[in-house]
Amino acid sequence: MNPQTRPARVPSRVHGSALLLLLAALASMAAPAFASPRESLCLDSGWRFHAGDPPGVDGRLDYDVRPEVIRSADGKVADARPDEAVRIQADRPVLKPWILPTANRFIASPERRHVRPAQAPDVGDIAFLHATFDDSAWQPVTLPHDWAIAGPFIAEGPYGGMGRLPSWGIGWYRRALDIPASQQGRQVFLDVGGAMSHASVWLNGALVGGWPYGYNGWRVDLTPYVAFGGDNQLVIRLDNPPESARWYPGGGLYRDVWLTSTAPVHVAQWGTYVTTPEVSAESASVHLRVEIDNATDAPVRVQVDTGFFALDGNGAAAGEAVAHIPTIGVDVVAGGSTKVTSGTHIANPRLWGPPPGQQPHRYVAVTTLRQAGRVIDRYETRFGIRDVQWDAGRGVIVNGEHVVLNGVNQHHDLGALGAAFNLRAAERQLEILRGMGVNAIRMAHNPPDPQLLELTDRMGFLVVDEVFDSWEKKKTPLDFHLVFPDWHEADLRAMLRRDRNHPSVILWSVGNEVGEQYDGDAGAAIGRRLVQIVREEDPTRPTTASMNWAKADMPFPAAFDVINLNYQGEGIRQEPEFEGTERIRTPPSYPAFREAFPDKVIFGSETASALSTRGTYLFPVTPARSAPVRDHNGGGDSSQALVSAYELYAVDFGSSVDKVFATLDRHPFVAGEFVWNGFDYLGEPTPYYSARSSYSGMIDLAGFPKDRYYLYQARWRPDLPMAHILPHWNWAGREGEVTPVHVFTSGDEAELFLNGVSQGRKKKAPFEYRLRWDEVVYQPGELHVRVWREGREWTQARVQTTGAPARLTLEADRARIGNDGRDLSFITLRVLDAEGREIRNADDLVRFEVEGPAELVATDNGDPRDLTAFPSPERKAFSGLALAIVRGLADQSGTAIVRVRSEGLAPAELRLQVGPAR
Ligand code: GAL
Repeated sequence: MNPQTRPARVPSRVHGSALLLLLAALASMAAPAFASPRESLCLDSGWRFHAGDPPGVDGRLDYDVRPEVIRSADGKVADARPDEAVRIQADRPVLKPWILPTANRFIASPERRHVRPAQAPDVGDIAFLHATFDDSAWQPVTLPHDWAIAGPFIAEGPYGGMGRLPSWGIGWYRRALDIPASQQGRQVFLDVGGAMSHASVWLNGALVGGWPYGYNGWRVDLTPYVAFGGDNQLVIRLDNPPESARWYPGGGLYRDVWLTSTAPVHVAQWGTYVTTPEVSAESASVHLRVEIDNATDAPVRVQVDTGFFALDGNGAAAGEAVAHIPTIGVDVVAGGSTKVTSGTHIANPRLWGPPPGQQPHRYVAVTTLRQAGRVIDRYETRFGIRDVQWDAGRGVIVNGEHVVLNGVNQHHDLGALGAAFNLRAAERQLEILRGMGVNAIRMAHNPPDPQLLELTDRMGFLVVDEVFDSWEKKKTPLDFHLVFPDWHEADLRAMLRRDRNHPSVILWSVGNEVGEQYDGDAGAAIGRRLVQIVREEDPTRPTTASMNWAKADMPFPAAFDVINLNYQGEGIRQEPEFEGTERIRTPPSYPAFREAFPDKVIFGSETASALSTRGTYLFPVTPARSAPVRDHNGGGDSSQALVSAYELYAVDFGSSVDKVFATLDRHPFVAGEFVWNGFDYLGEPTPYYSARSSYSGMIDLAGFPKDRYYLYQARWRPDLPMAHILPHWNWAGREGEVTPVHVFTSGDEAELFLNGVSQGRKKKAPFEYRLRWDEVVYQPGELHVRVWREGREWTQARVQTTGAPARLTLEADRARIGNDGRDLSFITLRVLDAEGREIRNADDLVRFEVEGPAELVATDNGDPRDLTAFPSPERKAFSGLALAIVRGLADQSGTAIVRVRSEGLAPAELRLQVGPAR
């Protein structure tokens, strides 16, 4: 294949659960090498990108006509003109009839599959599609690529919801593919991990197919359009509608794209399915279903056998086979596919389970297809052996251990890196979350990059895999509801087949807060249809859909196996200030659901939506345990777009952390919670839409923990001696004023001292989760807290008034990084005073610089209001911190130096070793 494409680097970059093993990668692996005639090349380099259509396209390349978005005078979306009205007006061809057949593999009923029109679409003469078009002036890009993340931010206008970055619009990608004559007779596929959005794929000027939903992975068969032995021109056009998301979607080929070549008879796309129906310490039964495609026009007989190997902690196959499924002969129909099911036992299985109680052990099934004794395909399926029970009284039981779900919701963006997936950035997020005690992730609200599931498998997180944020009813005028009728089946089946071998996935969510909750039985009927699809693809896991509105006595919740409540468990708008409001007001609802569904597990799929700006404290502090963000109650400063980090404030429909904990403790049948949310994300900056990113994360966009992080850590890692004091103690001008001090700790009792004077010893009462000294009067100096647990000294903490900024310091999360062109070091900048103390409210302007075999990719500080473009080397520190993200240059080795300076302060530098991954 194209010599420009380097063989993919595995095992760290794997292709979902079905790892396509590569000869190059295997050569370096100690344990068994499974040579495969299947080839797979990661098409990360060699692309050219262009934003916008050439003149004269006039909508002829659109997937479909779209409703027109109507704006009111202030620019806000008022409505969308109905689809039908626009369709009648729009007298022009669209690509939908040629795109729909890409879904066929995921449409169960043959009658509902799409037939490609005999004629090519009439798109006219479009220069960008010509093989001979000169794209040398286009921007060279490397995948994964997010065309919007570099900005600039759009400061004015109603764009806060989608993150103030230019993610909507058209994008073109072109790349030459050199497919040698030796490939003649093979099947050539393009495997796209995710393209945002409405992709159409063209090869040598012909439309091959495409996929509208930006979050799913998909495949098109290039074979009929390939010029074997010649130059091939691949063109992908994407089209991101405006008003199509409630958050920042990103734009572009933001996940990996692979060129896969197989023999005509081969294991189908995501063609294996492993289940382990019986699991004990002595033995596990392993069932394997293999789907085999035959692209020839004659039936063939193939032999299938599978060996099972343990994987080590890095995901590499280790040791001898632990089990085998002996050879089975299978007849595969001409031009179709055949499934074969077989099974074996693995003795003394090493189980997959979440730490700290268990370890995430994994296995790989290596399936070999032979035809007349010749190996024609080899295919790997990673999986784990675990037993998950859903117990309505207790919750989730994994391998006999009751695991309380200490979960978070996560959006797909990676902060300053945007939607472009990066394995190390995702791994860092999970490490930071684990530090807080998180053991579960809800993929809000769409299928994640498959590599993220590889990480959750490897690290042992439990996952709720969610497919849609909307069904037929829109949330924004041009969102997924426009394609739901045609695509829901394919999108759901695609996610299920892609993800069902991941041991981390324990639950399928078919929707989040969909408008159909309000629709009585009609809405529930759509839910039941989606559940039916799940049962057909994976009967081993239960289904759910998250509800912020549907009540226990309505038809909607009855459609699902597991009850997922968003905010309703704690109650919505129950505080006195909401009396008389017309917005939803819901009493605390766990008991009503428990009564209505005594046999179903219930948990909070979204809790809290507590809000804060890291390191920012406003006064007076509310005496309440949970309050909405208002200027008068110390929750917010609307003129500055700041939310207080006393961590007592939440969105109007949400609850503080303390209130959520109390509700969970009062209802022990609730299986746990998924907090909204883990990391701040781009877009949805409630309550201040002038900002770029959310306030709801317990960790800011740069990855710096907010105070709230410690409230969760105290509960989720109770054995970690920890005390965290807030606020900072640099309040020049507040001398003599009441400045409450709160302590988050895993202890149960503490005494606070200000400059050695006791402010009183306090003990947590039942259903209390913080210790608060609300009458402390500010004077500069030192706060010191001594903490006890069950009467014994447990830990202590101090916060001091610091001096003026004097110097900078840098700290790298990893001082040694790989040179695969992707690996990253996340470098934290701190501003210190002359005594070396961290200044928790410093905001100095700093400038980063990188020298040697590494480059600065982006900077951030976690301030939702900061509209400095992410690639900028210059940025203000925020609440004492800033972040630099540095990447090792591809194929270079040596020492890189990262420097930072700021006027009037002593600069800092650190060294990074860049070289081949060890
Ligand atoms: C929920 C919704 C989330 C997010 C959150 C913000 O209602 O499901 O996607 O919007 O509110 O508080």
